[in-house]
Amino acid sequence: MWRNRDLVDLTEFTRRDFEALFKQADVFLEAGLAPTKMLEGKIMAAAFFEPSTRTRLSFESAMHRLGGSVLGFSSAEGTSVEKGESTEDTIRMLDNYSDVIVVRHREDGVMRRLAQLAKKPLINAGEGQSRHPTQALIDIYTVLKEKGMVEGLNYGVMGDVKHARAAKDFIRGLSLFGVKEVNLVTPKELMPEEAFVKEMNNKGVRLNHYERIEDLISMLDILYVVRLQVERFSDRSEAEMLKGSYSITLKTLERANRGLRILHPLPRVWELSGEVDGTPYAAYFKQVYYSIPVRMAVLSLILTDVEMIREGLI
Ligand code: CP
Repeated sequence: MWRNRDLVDLTEFTRRDFEALFKQADVFLEAGLAPTKMLEGKIMAAAFFEPSTRTRLSFESAMHRLGGSVLGFSSAEGTSVEKGESTEDTIRMLDNYSDVIVVRHREDGVMRRLAQLAKKPLINAGEGQSRHPTQALIDIYTVLKEKGMVEGLNYGVMGDVKHARAAKDFIRGLSLFGVKEVNLVTPKELMPEEAFVKEMNNKGVRLNHYERIEDLISMLDILYVVRLQVERFSDRSEAEMLKGSYSITLKTLERANRGLRILHPLPRVWELSGEVDGTPYAAYFKQVYYSIPVRMAVLSLILTDVEMIREGLI
């Protein structure tokens, strides 16, 4: 199901694949994320052409906990990209140096191209404004841990859905679990592009639009919040005008359903007040913790035959 596969596009995987991965993540979680030698001798290359804290470091943490080692870079600065080397040639090099390549890049559509030229499995760690599949795996896993189910809940996705790849892949992930309706809470300027709306409609997911969180907060079980992706605006003054146009505070939560859980892929800026952190609604730091067992599961399922390891056959 996962062995030797590229993880470029979530929609190439099935609910069964997700469930197998979550089962493996549970094994690591129940072991308290204890170090193993499962990937001893394996090398992960991390090629981050765009900034990251969580994704890069949690992949590194996961690989170390699995007994493997890590090489790579956290920005193109200091690499031969500065001398004019292409992204493609950079990946060709890493293909020789490692067993799995984890890539983040600002260009939509680049990952498929890179995965086709690399012989080693390639994992998409964030691609432009369209895809962030491992974040979606973490997010769905968090929903399962918090609510015990995925289908049958009321979802809100709040913020810059137009530019936030994590929001789009979260909704794609929900669609794989049979969710039929997602409520977007966003200024109209930050609605996703028509192609994404059509893609979701074709998967049987209706996207409703709200401008005010107050109009639906009391009916939500899960609220997924994303920041304004300022760096993706061609006209920064437009982003400036949208600053502060949506936010979650204690006041917003006065009418919330007690079982509401708030997720956020982070980083947050002004859209999610720190005063929410100490409430039972806040699930975003648990989401960070779950990133480790989920990414351990991704790496171990792609790089080994976990079933055989469990049975002591290798
Ligand atoms: N959630 C996420 O992708 O965070 P980073 O940009 O810090 O990796």
